[in-house]
Amino acid sequence: MIAKQGLEGIVATTSSISSIIDDNLTYVGYNIDDLTENATFEEVIYLLWHLELPTKEQLQELKNQIADNMELPKEVIATLKSMPTDKIHPMAALRTAVSLLGLYDDEADVMEKEANYRKAIRLQAKMPTIVAAFSRIRKGLEPVAPRKDFDIAENFLYMLNGKEPEKIEVEAMNKALILHADHELNASTFTARVCVATLSDVYSGITSAIGALKGPLHGGANEQVMKMLTEIGSVDKAEQYVLDKLSKKEKIMGFGHRVYRSGDPRAKHLKEMSRKLTELTGEPEWYDISVKVHETFTSQKPLPPNVDFYSASVYHSLGIDHDLFTPIFAVSRVSGWLAHILEQYDNNRLIRPRAEYTGPSLRQYVPVDQR
Ligand code: ACO
Repeated sequence: MIAKQGLEGIVATTSSISSIIDDNLTYVGYNIDDLTENATFEEVIYLLWHLELPTKEQLQELKNQIADNMELPKEVIATLKSMPTDKIHPMAALRTAVSLLGLYDDEADVMEKEANYRKAIRLQAKMPTIVAAFSRIRKGLEPVAPRKDFDIAENFLYMLNGKEPEKIEVEAMNKALILHADHELNASTFTARVCVATLSDVYSGITSAIGALKGPLHGGANEQVMKMLTEIGSVDKAEQYVLDKLSKKEKIMGFGHRVYRSGDPRAKHLKEMSRKLTELTGEPEWYDISVKVHETFTSQKPLPPNVDFYSASVYHSLGIDHDLFTPIFAVSRVSGWLAHILEQYDNNRLIRPRAEYTGPSLRQYVPVDQR
């Protein structure tokens, strides 16, 4: 029997990392609401990689390992500087830079479990530095070196803007990183697992996953949401904008999901963050427009907002360039990709499904001058 298009409903693997059951998202058994309210991103990384929350000492050790690995090889900085930065999307730069990192890692092709874990640390540590460095370089600024006394959320905002972020900004970034960290067998995670199931290396797996996340049907949706909010411009235009789009059978980015039916549990956190942050920045219109789009869309279609919808106004309020929204998603999701890659290596079998052939039946080759 052939699977539904897009492999809808197919259970393709077992995994102990995250689950979506009855529209609830859990990481290794902990509800996402609980973690978002109480945990740090580093605790969540540890949880995803070790399937237990860390003790104080284990957490400190992970933080030290990340702090020690945030700096980029000088060759990677030089390549970022040589890129046509005004013409390329930051996701393309990130994809290239992560692939390049593999060239400067002596253990890139060492397949022992411990070596793969060390690579996971290096990638998790370096991805925020790459995104921030690219953002600085394309503005004609020098990259800002990471600080060892900062956690990932604080360091990322610091490297991006070159100044210490406010507490509320760090809290918002920490929550956003937790909310995006893992999501069962989403398209980019599946891509990573398919790649490393050939026994290819960790860098290849993450590079492939970044490519899959880039698309607007997946991680690229958050940037498209901000584009839409900007196009709408004011609350009074939101309703008509949505109705016009729907009458032309166009999709509204940030709504709908392959798995969730009653709603994406991550969206409510981002909605609340959006309300608070837009009020704080004195630009409540971004929240108001979002709510109007949300209300209008759901009055027409029973498709609630997904994680990407309110994250757009959250990141905008943090002063982040709109085309960096998807790279930030990657800075978080790399934790989940790495967890799944390590899990795949632990119990590997090549992933190789079949296709039902729908092309012409057997034909005879005709030489080119007789065609
Ligand atoms: N706006 C308008 N209509 C929609 C939307 C939307 N955002 N999403 C789904 N629909 C409609 C489709 O047009 C289709 O209608 P039809 O049956 O009349 O043709 C129906 O709902 C089913 O849609 P599919 O695209 O087949 O649903 P699928 O499960 O394949 O796709 C997806 C899920 C890709 C998320 C889809 O809802 C979508 O394109 N949303 C917008 C992009 C987006 O926000 N992506 C981020 C997802 S979350 C993440 O990856 C982080």
